[in-house]
Amino acid sequence: MLPTILLLTGAAGVANAYTIVAGQTFMFKNIDPVVMPGEYKSHMHTFMGSDAVTLNTSTSAELRKGCTSAQSLNDQSVYWTPTLYYTGAGSDYTPLAPERFSAYYENIAEAEIAIPEDYKVVVGNAAGTTQADVDAAGTTAEWFCEGDSAPASKEAAAFPTTTCSTHLQHILRFHDCVNPSNISEHSYSGRQNLPNTNRCPTGQSRIPQLRFSIRYDLRKTISSGWSGAPPLTLACGSSFCAHGDFINGWDKTALVNMLNATSKTEYMYINGTLQTGSGGDPTCGPTDADPNNGTNDYLKSVAMMAAKRMAKRAMSFFA
Ligand SMILES: *[C@@H]1O[C@H](CO)[C@@H](O)[C@H](O)[C@H]1NC(C)=O
Ligand SMILES: *[C@@H]1O[C@H](CO)[C@@H](O)[C@H](O)[C@H]1NC(C)=O
Ligand SMILES: *[C@@H]1O[C@H](CO)[C@@H](O)[C@H](O)[C@H]1NC(C)=O
Ligand SMILES: *[C@@H]1O[C@H](CO)[C@@H](O)[C@H](O)[C@H]1NC(C)=O
Ligand SMILES: *[C@@H]1O[C@H](CO)[C@@H](O)[C@H](O)[C@H]1NC(C)=O
Repeated sequence: MLPTILLLTGAAGVANAYTIVAGQTFMFKNIDPVVMPGEYKSHMHTFMGSDAVTLNTSTSAELRKGCTSAQSLNDQSVYWTPTLYYTGAGSDYTPLAPERFSAYYENIAEAEIAIPEDYKVVVGNAAGTTQADVDAAGTTAEWFCEGDSAPASKEAAAFPTTTCSTHLQHILRFHDCVNPSNISEHSYSGRQNLPNTNRCPTGQSRIPQLRFSIRYDLRKTISSGWSGAPPLTLACGSSFCAHGDFINGWDKTALVNMLNATSKTEYMYINGTLQTGSGGDPTCGPTDADPNNGTNDYLKSVAMMAAKRMAKRAMSFFA
């Protein structure tokens, strides 16, 4: 009997505690304040959450000055991914906003500490071109048709090769371990082959695990469906370069209260100083905080990236 009970507790019990924040896309832009701070030379990204984000953003306090597109006013975090484009209309790149972007916070009952102030992270392999690249980065990017079965041969991070009956869904799991005295050190739990305890590397603590669940509705855009590779590309390349970024901007009280969301079966609202219980959509109207710089256009972003590469080459020529 005993082993069964232990198994149930470990696998299906408290591990499911979670909350969700849905956020509307408010901006497409060629910036990445985590990976390429201070430059308008990133590939295109799709932004959800606090509209205070600019190329320079590095703190939670900066994000809290914004208007959030998240459905919880307590969540002023910013979330972004490479923009998904429809490429089936000649040479045009048509950006596709998710129909629904959800930030899940999971395994909250396992968390030892709240997500730290100023915590920022990117997961995925932005240079990935194959499933092996995704696996090597230790990440778990997935693309699939929601609710449809896929051939066993389909690679997890490949786009589906047949039309989705409903949504194209994309999943990215974030790090759930962080070193509280150096928040640049973070990783996934359970990869250390340790026999017990919290399964984070020494010096790191469990935090609620962020997971992106992004649903794209392609039924109008690709109305005749597809067979084989779909007419889609990410701003960084193929489906295998999928990645996600996060900068914590949660209300400080809400961050601590998040640790109380340990219901085993239901998701719970995260109460904070800006909101208690559920709330409606934000009414402030999020916009680009830096509208005169950078671009929301795919081809212009590519030109701006090329300018960077040429500048680098010139530097090495003169060096
Ligand atoms: C970003 O930082 C640079 C350097 O400090 C500054 O010149 C620029 O105005 C800032 N841009 C924005 C949008 O904050
Ligand atoms: C924090 O961690 C990063 C990444 O491991 C490292 O580069 C940096 O030197 C560390 N900072 C301190 C103050 O130890
Ligand atoms: C969350 O739990 C802490 C104690 O761990 C308590 O002080 C706080 O009031 C709780 N918050 C809510 C919203 O229940
Ligand atoms: C937040 O407050 C609501 C009541 O308004 C309560 O039902 C819910 O359990 C609280 N959430 C947490 C995580 O304590
Ligand atoms: C962005 O544009 C504004 C004008 O709206 C300008 O003042 C600012 O310096 C620009 N920032 C950068 C980094 O070029």
